[in-house]
This record gives sequence, structure tokens and C-alpha cells, in this order.
Amino acid sequence: MGKDVIIACDFNSKEEVINFLSQFKDEKPFVKIGMELFYAAGPDIVKEIKKMGHKIFLDLKLHDIPNTVKKAMKVLSELDVDMCNVHAAGTVAMMEAAIQGLTRADGTRPLLIAVTQLTSTSEERMQKDLLINEPIDKVVMHYAKNAKTAGLDGVVCSPLEAEKVHSVCGKEFVTVTPGVRFADGEVGDQVRVTTPEKAKEIGSDYIVVGRPITQADNPVAAYRRCVAEFVG
Ligand code: C5P
Repeated sequence: MGKDVIIACDFNSKEEVINFLSQFKDEKPFVKIGMELFYAAGPDIVKEIKKMGHKIFLDLKLHDIPNTVKKAMKVLSELDVDMCNVHAAGTVAMMEAAIQGLTRADGTRPLLIAVTQLTSTSEERMQKDLLINEPIDKVVMHYAKNAKTAGLDGVVCSPLEAEKVHSVCGKEFVTVTPGVRFADGEVGDQVRVTTPEKAKEIGSDYIVVGRPITQADNPVAAYRRCVAEFVG
């Protein structure tokens, strides 16, 4: 699996994201479009960014009954995104339906990855609110195995979990890891952070980096630094 840096384009308007991406003249970074931008700007923003030559991870985290997810995924695959995701909590049947919906008539499809437990969910909240009485690590690995069983390509996880996911689900199973910060940078609201260099050592396949690039004085230089540290 090719290693890459994905920029989290957490903007809330078309103008902002296009202005931001226009700074990249010599390279076309892989970008993540999340719910905020997708709901604000609509599906056309995906087509527009795709036309600019970027690969797109559409981070909408689908979670619904299998039939609804299948139909929604069919629409997303027609948008020609490169990667999208679902919640593994939707069950193996839902993830299998997602794969069916995503697969185009010619047999191709975007990469599909699963969210296991959100990193904002603590073990205590998972046990008390969700009544899942197991250690969170065990739940994350179980959900990753379910995603693999359903035929998905990988999971979103903390860089600190990437090594274990690879040991449980195999080296080819993709790990996409947010929570990345430069050694000399601001941490912000992220708690368990890793540098791009460390994420490479641990074996992440893709790192998702937002503010260290989008809020940098020189975003292109910050992106290049990430690529140099992570891809080498
Ligand atoms: O700005 P920052 O680098 O923290 O951005 C990280 C991106 O990854 C954001 O879009 C955030 O929503 C997303 N993300 C995360 N942690 C997760 C899943 C997604 O930070 N567990």
C-alpha cells in the first residue's frame, strides 16, 4: 500500500477550500473532505476538487441499515472518490452492503475503511453509555477484524493502534491515522499525538493531517515537511 499524507480540509465553504488548494502548484495532495464541507458545499465540491487533480477521502462515516448504506455508497462511488468510510458498529452485514453499493459496473471501487471506536470515546464512556463491557483495545481490534471479514480495506485508527491492527489483520490491511503533529508544533485538542516520522516507524499507511498544514504560515512547506518525514 502506497504511503501518503492526506490533508484534512476542514473548511466550511467552497471559496475557502479552493483558495487553500490553489496554493499547491507543483503537487496535488490527497485531501479529506468531511461532513462540514460536504454538507455546506454539497456533492459538487467533490467533483470540483477531483477536477483539480486531487485524490479524495470522503469522510462521511455512514451508519444506517444495510440497504440504505448500500444505496448511499452507490451514489458516492459515482462521485469518483478514492476512499470513503463507514462505522464498523453498523455490523458486518452493513459493511458488506457498503462494499456492494460501492462496487461499480466495471468491478472497480474506492477504498473502503471503517471507523472502529471514535478516539473521542473513552473506555469509561463506551462501557457506561454504550454498555460494552470490554477493554477498548479489545473492541477496536474486534471491529477491525469484522471490517476485514466484510471485505473492507482497512480502518481509521490512532497511530498508536496501527501496529496492533497490522498484527491482527495483516500488513495489507490499511491503517489511516489522524492525530499527527510536528515535534515542535501545537498539539491543539488532540490528545494522543504522533509525529509523521513516528507514524512511519509504527507502520501507518496514510496519515491525516489538518491544522498543522491548514493553519501553517506556509501550508505548502508544512505539507512538504510532512511528506519528507512520513514518506521519506
Ligand atoms: O487538525 P487535525 O490534524 O487535528 O485534524 C485531524 C482530522 O482527522 C480532523 O478532520 C478530525 O475530524 C479527523 N479525525 C480525528 N480523529 C479521529 C477521526 C478523525 O482527528 N479519530
